[in-house]
This record gives sequence, C-alpha cells and structure tokens, in this order.
Amino acid sequence: GQALAGKHILITAGPTHEPIDPVRYIANRSSGKQGFAIAAAAASLGARVTLVAGPVALDTPVGVTRIDIETALQMAAAINAALPADVAILVAAVADWRSDAAAIKIKKDGNAPAPLALVENPDILATLAASPQRPRLLIGFAAETDHVLDHAQAKLARKGCDWIIANDVSGDVMGGSHNRVHLVTATGVESWDELPKQAVADRLVSRIADALT
Ligand code: C5P
Repeated sequence: GQALAGKHILITAGPTHEPIDPVRYIANRSSGKQGFAIAAAAASLGARVTLVAGPVALDTPVGVTRIDIETALQMAAAINAALPADVAILVAAVADWRSDAAAIKIKKDGNAPAPLALVENPDILATLAASPQRPRLLIGFAAETDHVLDHAQAKLARKGCDWIIANDVSGDVMGGSHNRVHLVTATGVESWDELPKQAVADRLVSRIADALT
C-alpha cells in the first residue's frame, strides 16, 4: 500500500570523504547499502524520499531524489537545504574528523611526516534533534563492535533522537548484504534476527508507517 504517501523522508547513507590534499582523503568502510535499501523501501510505500549520499557505488532506487555529497560539511548543508521532513533516518557513517585540507599535494621529504591537523565535524543527528525544524520522527544508527546495546541506549539520550538502530559491525556487516540490528527506543529494545539489508529496511519502514498513524 501507500502507507507513507504525502510524507517527506530524509535519509543519509554511505561514508563521507574528508580531503587531506587534492589527491588524498580520510574515509571509512561504509558501503551505503543499508541506507539505500531504506530509501527504496520508503519510496515503495509512497513517501517522497530525499537521499543524501556519500561516495558509494550504488544505483539510485526508483522514485528517490538523490543528492551526492563528499564531505560531512556538505552532508550537513544538503540536509538543511532539504528540510522540512516528517522523518529523518541518518544512516551515514559520517567521518568524526576532517582535515584542514592542503591546497596542493603534500610531499614526502624523507623526514618525519607532517602531522594531520584534525578538526571535529558537526554532529548532523544531534544538530537536527535540537533544531526548530526537527522532524517528527528522528532515527539514528549506531554501528558498534562491542557493548552494542549499552552504547546505543547512551546514544539515544545523548543525541536526542527517537529511535536508534543499533548494529553489531564486529563481523562482515560493512559492505555485506545482511545485518543484525536492534531497535532501541525510550521504551525498550527489540532485537531482530539477522536479515538481508533490504528486509531490515522493509521492517523499519513499516514500523515508521505505524508510528506516524
Ligand atoms: O556518534 P556516532 O557516529 O556513533 O553516531 C552515529 C549516528 O549519528 C548515525 O545515525 C550517524 O549518521 C549520525 N552522525 C551524524 N553526524 C556525525 C556523526 C554521526 O549525523 N558527525
């Protein structure tokens, strides 16, 4: 059915790339698959979907408006430009730090390497939670390798979002096709079986449709 018709759903997915100089960058192993699967699921329920995507090798799901960005600052700006939204699902693995990028290629000279001066990136999720344009339902992800539920519950409170999807990335989740997640809300934790990422997406989006009615 079209359970999400008339709703605007904003999704981030993939990694960010933070340039060090014109030829190098800091990145992470996010593939974007889970976020893209959620975008596809939301569009198939009739939502208007804006997908802000970091650098990934994935096709745009049918019916989704995709905005490609590279850095965390560009992701933050794209989110702001896409508001307002009824729901935001921030799946992206945003780089915690950016480098003060050099305008020209840094050369090695046989001496000790120049230290990378890192600056903390804005937390897009926490900023959106505190914004006057906060979506009615704000969902974050927590990729953890250990103490998954403890970290997720702490994150829910710290970030000010409504739900956290906690996933255990100690295995081969990043880049893989399956995911084992826990839906963490203020009222409790629901642990889902390991499922294909598209099945995780379908289940999450159907929960979102329920929450909006
Ligand atoms: O703090 P941590 O990076 O583990 O939090 C993960 C959640 O916060 C994810 O939903 C991620 O998309 C979001 N996030 C963000 N901006 C950042 C860092 C994380 O939106 N700078």
